[in-house]
Formats: sequence, structure tokens, C-alpha cells
Amino acid sequence: MNRSLVRRRALAALGIETWQRRGISSRAVQTGIALREATPANAPAPVAATLAPQAVSAPPAQAALIPSARERPQDWDGLAAAVAGCTLCKLCKTRSHTVFGVGARDAPLMVIGEGPGADEDAQGEPFVGRAGKLLDEMLRAIGRSRRESSPDRSVYIANVVKCRPPGNREPQPDEVEACRPYLDLQIRWLRPRLILALGRVAAQRLLSTDAPLSKLRGPLYEYGPDHTPVLVSYHPAYLLRSPSEKAKSWQDLKRVHRLLSSPSP
Ligand code: URA
Repeated sequence: MNRSLVRRRALAALGIETWQRRGISSRAVQTGIALREATPANAPAPVAATLAPQAVSAPPAQAALIPSARERPQDWDGLAAAVAGCTLCKLCKTRSHTVFGVGARDAPLMVIGEGPGADEDAQGEPFVGRAGKLLDEMLRAIGRSRRESSPDRSVYIANVVKCRPPGNREPQPDEVEACRPYLDLQIRWLRPRLILALGRVAAQRLLSTDAPLSKLRGPLYEYGPDHTPVLVSYHPAYLLRSPSEKAKSWQDLKRVHRLLSSPSP
């Protein structure tokens, strides 16, 4: 199937009929775009971020939460093993599987969700339920897939917590903080050009704010010692409940596409 047909089908799955090519310029460098947008009152300040690869700097302070420097994971296998055996918070008592993350480990785009649900807990992979199917369609619409091997087209998907909160409740702040060193190491090792935080909970926990999603969506933030640019958009589970918001989600996806298409300075 050719790529434009794949994209049209993906857009149709999103309930979006037209591909608005005119709005997209692959050369349009969006660096610093947030500075021209209003900053929500209680949201973290957006920053002028470039999408250039960043030099690896010192490990985030939270890495110290992982029991000892000797036990601190040194590579992806070690990190996956640490997550699989993690007992740092109460979610370990009720999980079936940890949900580490999936995708190419050199992906320029990292998608971060809230936390595993029942399907993810059963399968050990993020976003495999109904919301995950929609996420796959959304990503396919901008030419990306968790399964594709080509790095410039690929995506890495993870959550702010690696274990399912029981009853699909929101992950609590202490659970997110216990898990943050794992996510921070993933971000540090991936060095994505852009993080897309999906939904209020992921965005609030990642950016350490209680601002509502309506205010968080729009500006470009940065995260961590590598100043990784972060955009916030709707969670696919919300889009399943509120399909009328898909058009705004599509605007966000086009922006992701533009940002990742812009040349690194
Ligand atoms: N919702 C999320 O935020 N993450 C998942 O992995 C699945 C559903």
C-alpha cells in the first residue's frame, strides 16, 4: 500500500477527511514557536527550544532514587531488568506485568502516556487497548509507527508510570516520582528530538504542574537536563470519548510533524 493511501486511511480512522498540505512546510522551522503563544497562568514557562540533538549531560538528580549507584542500570537491558523487578512503590503489589516501553531506541519522537491499563498490564506493552489502536492510527497519519525500523519515521512509547494503577485510577504523585528515574533514563538514552505528552495526567506529572490540559496544550516546554522539547496534546482515550476534539488533536500532530521535519540548526 503506498504511503499516501496509508495516511488517508489513518486520517479517515481519525475522522479527518482532508490532508491540509498547505499548512505544512517541511522547511518551516518551528523553533521557539511557543514564545509567540500565551503562557497559561499556572503552567510551567514555555521555552525557546531548538530541536538540535543535545549533548548528554549529568544524570538527573532523581536517578539517585534507584537504590544505589552500583545497582543503577548502565544500559537498556539493565534498565528493563530494574523495572521488571521494581518494588519502589505500591503499584508493584497489584501489577501483572511491568510496562517498560516500546519502539526504536533512537526514535526522534517519544510519546509519553499516563500509565498502563488492563490490556497493557496483561500484555506488558504500552497502548495496546482501544486507545492504543487510535494512537497507532494517529501516528501512522504522520508517517510513524512503533514497529517501523527506520529511525526518522519511528517513535518510542512509554508512560509516566510502568505499572498499572488499580481500577484505572490516576497514578499518584508518589508513584510517579518513584518511577521518574526510569523514565528519565529512557529519555536521556533515547535523546528524542521531541516528547509528546498525551493527556492531562502525563502532562501535569511530567511538567510538575497542576494546570489544566486546556492551558498546557499549545506552548512548547522543555524537560530534563537535556532540555528536551515537550508538546502536550489530548489522550487518545479522551478522543474516543470526545471525537469532536480529534480535529484539534490533528493540529497537534501536524505540528509534531513540522517540528520533526525541521532541519537541526
Ligand atoms: N493509557 C495510557 O496512558 N497508557 C497506556 O499505556 C495505555 C492507556
